[in-house]
Amino acid sequence: MIEESYQIHAAKYPAECTFSESDWNALANMWYPIALEEDIAEKPVALSLLDVRLVVARLGDEYVVAKDLCIHRGAPLSAGWIKNSCVVCPYHGYEFGADGKCTKVPCDPDWKIPAKVRLETYLHTVKYGLIWVCLSGDPQNQLPEWEPEADNPAYRRFHMGPEIWDCSAGRAIENFIDNAHFSFVHQSSFGQESSATMGTEYEFEMTDNWMTMEFEYLATNPSDSPISNEAELKRHMHRTLYFPFCTRTCISYPGGREHIIHINITPVSARKAQLIVVFTRNFDHDVPVEKLLEWERKILGEDRVIIEMQKPEEIPLEISAEVHAKADKASIAYRNWLRKVGLGRSFTA
Ligand code: FES
Ligand SMILES: [Fe+2]
Repeated sequence: MIEESYQIHAAKYPAECTFSESDWNALANMWYPIALEEDIAEKPVALSLLDVRLVVARLGDEYVVAKDLCIHRGAPLSAGWIKNSCVVCPYHGYEFGADGKCTKVPCDPDWKIPAKVRLETYLHTVKYGLIWVCLSGDPQNQLPEWEPEADNPAYRRFHMGPEIWDCSAGRAIENFIDNAHFSFVHQSSFGQESSATMGTEYEFEMTDNWMTMEFEYLATNPSDSPISNEAELKRHMHRTLYFPFCTRTCISYPGGREHIIHINITPVSARKAQLIVVFTRNFDHDVPVEKLLEWERKILGEDRVIIEMQKPEEIPLEISAEVHAKADKASIAYRNWLRKVGLGRSFTA
């Protein structure tokens, strides 16, 4: 069990949950990247994970992640503020520290505050500038590995999001292990139909925590692309899916240039997924970040349009419910993994 300075609670299956209880229980056992550190600053922030409403705040040197509900009269702490490294409830001003304990009840300063007056704090950690949360307190998956680019000054970092897409986290991440869509979904950016067979036969490995695949794709970028102004670029792609919803894709171009895309998806509810996409790259350092982001937003926007239209919104875990070509072997393995960890026949995340 992980030792922390705060009490680790196991969240309970929420009322009005959009997941089946068994799916929720399986998904609550995982780490999710719920926020960028830089977005958690002067105020408590409201976020949702698996239909659990959370308050996230920076209190001095620590973060607190808790149920967004004051035990006194049920006000949301995210509507409050921060004072003296405590979250202050907006209703009667009770103050709660990073360990979750109530330190002050302004209307009754002499009260020996019972232990019950506290936040329901959840297991969290910080890695790669992201705050990761596990609602059960007993994570069964591993955090991604961002090597060698993590903290390496040769790689410039920028990001897109967080943004909420109207889709399940499963459909969203499955798109990012699918190589056969480039030549169609991305025809207005880097894809072209004549490359349709590229990347469809790939090297593939899998463990209980991740799967990797390696392949090449001939990207045809328009002249306004910020990728070093080359019209045709053979991309070598090495991708790892960290179960359940994060990928790291290293795109290598000739000359040692690496563009790495870290897709970090959090299931907000069964049909809402939050994306935080972090990019790291060791070239084009003179191109303004805004220009690079414009290009990435265009590409991810192309993905988003198609993902938000997919039916059913959930991934059918019954393999025979959809058809599968050879390019889909990673997605079949992924669906089998979801079943293995306890998700239902029609996965609702
Ligand atoms: S509801 Fe939070 S202090 Fe009363
Ligand atoms: Fe795509």
